[in-house]
Amino acid sequence: MAEFQKLVFSGVQPTGNLHLGNYLGAIRKFVALQKDNDCIYCVVDEHALTAQLVHEDLRGQTRAIAAAYIASGIDPKKHIVFNQSAVAGHAELAWIFNCVARIGWMERMTQFKDKAGGKNAEQVSLGLLAYPSLMAADILLYRATHVPVGDDQKQHLELTRDIAQKFNIDFSANIRKEGYGIDIKVGDEPVHAYFPMVEPLIDGPAPRVMSLRDGTKKMSKSDPSDLSRINLMDDAETISKKIRKAKTDPDGLPSEPEGLKGRPEADNLVGIYAALSDKTKADVLADYGGQQFSVFKPALIELAVSVLAPITEEMRRLTGDTSHIDAILRDGGERANARAEKTMKEVRDIIGFLR
Ligand code: AMP
Ligand code: TRP
Repeated sequence: MAEFQKLVFSGVQPTGNLHLGNYLGAIRKFVALQKDNDCIYCVVDEHALTAQLVHEDLRGQTRAIAAAYIASGIDPKKHIVFNQSAVAGHAELAWIFNCVARIGWMERMTQFKDKAGGKNAEQVSLGLLAYPSLMAADILLYRATHVPVGDDQKQHLELTRDIAQKFNIDFSANIRKEGYGIDIKVGDEPVHAYFPMVEPLIDGPAPRVMSLRDGTKKMSKSDPSDLSRINLMDDAETISKKIRKAKTDPDGLPSEPEGLKGRPEADNLVGIYAALSDKTKADVLADYGGQQFSVFKPALIELAVSVLAPITEEMRRLTGDTSHIDAILRDGGERANARAEKTMKEVRDIIGFLR
């Protein structure tokens, strides 16, 4: 049995302000993974069109995500940082996956149901429905094996596995005939596979950062209340105000993570502290168990500001120099394209497109 070469891939959409959920659920993990892995980090500008077609400043938003990657510590020389639309293979492979995937698979996605909910079929783009097929193409274009994301993307990664599996099975004869693919195990089954079964990397103390105003709602770019989220561009005073005003319950902190059950706001703040300090919730409660929020919140403010302020400052500096960011993205796009073209040549052979 062989194994696919380990490769990390992830992406963030250039829509709206990045917040602490994006940072802890995704970008901070990207940074940690680059030490021991080959990584490709994408700004998924083609995904930005799915929910809203026309964007006032798509270029600026794209640069802002790239700046956040780099300001957070991603090294664009050792790894690849680029924007999706620079590599034509994403859209090309997505078309093929549109023909592999079934409409029912797409209609079952909870994110689709949330975003399309309440609108009729005339008001929702076909792209919003097909979005997970483009996401699968992003990953499988590089035959990536590991994908760090927040908890909300779990279902899309399961669908990516379904698409890979159906492609591997439907084209198994051609994959062998053309001399591509490797023998892997899926569960206990041996299969000859062209595309790997991706592994989601979701764990950590903050896989789902919740709103600061309501511990049962996800922290999100689209929440109308700015007090609900900490934006990566917020200054120290704003961060401090938002954490001071964050909703809590009247009890102090428990001494064990078990005691956070049924207390979503307390659980969220402890999870944020843990993720920002690379600790577990149990470690945090070992230090703060029994304390009131009047003691814990100032400590959380100090920690959040000390982690985020240098990133914010570097993002400001980087976005002020567009030619530098553009050069990084161009270089990343060229290197990504070289890898993508290898896959696309093989995929065209497997399908039987005449070249
Ligand atoms: P998006 O902004 O939707 O493109 O999301 C970019 C990344 O941030 C994805 O990996 C998401 O799963 C992650 N993410 C978004 N919101 C949250 C949240 N509230 N908690 C944890 N991760 C999140
Ligand atoms: N769908 C992801 C989100 O909204 C963004 C994304 C697009 C992505 N392509 C990807 C994440 C590939 C991981 C891998 O957050």
